[in-house]
Amino acid sequence: MKFQVIYFTQTGNTKKVAEAIASELGVKAEDVNTAKLNPDGLILLGSGKYGNQPGKIMMEFIENNIFKSRNVALFGTSGSGKGLEVQEMEKALNAKEASIKGKFFCRGKFMLFNRGRPNEQDFTEAKKFAKQMMK
Ligand SMILES: Cc1cc2nc3c(=O)[nH]c(=O)nc-3n(C[C@H](O)[C@H](O)[C@H](O)COP(=O)(O)O)c2cc1C
Repeated sequence: MKFQVIYFTQTGNTKKVAEAIASELGVKAEDVNTAKLNPDGLILLGSGKYGNQPGKIMMEFIENNIFKSRNVALFGTSGSGKGLEVQEMEKALNAKEASIKGKFFCRGKFMLFNRGRPNEQDFTEAKKFAKQMMK
């Protein structure tokens, strides 16, 4: 199967997770600012959380592309909470009739919070998630 990993990052945390996932899948993680959606295969989209929302550019990317019947997996990093960034992307993709295959999120450092995150354990979990998506 083909894979494409696309991320939005503001402070680098989600990029690190995207790269861990992409390396497991044997592809390069792509910045949403320059990525073009592959015509087939599984798409993995990731974002940090900013004011309880995923990155605006990621939401625009979802809005501006066709996801009907596409297989999509989602990942995110956030300062707190239960992966609201992933849930919000999922909502937008459900509205576009995508098929959500899996979700992963972990903490990301933010000012003095979550120092060192994402950490080695987060990357291990992210890679496990990637492996599941290969099945
Ligand atoms: C401008 C800004 C706003 C943020 N707002 C929230 C928030 O509302 N809730 C939260 O849990 N974390 C918040 N965070 C923390 C980020 O979600 C966290 O650091 C995340 O890992 C950032 O991902 P990135 O490094 O890929 O940009 C915020 C961070 C920034 C920079």
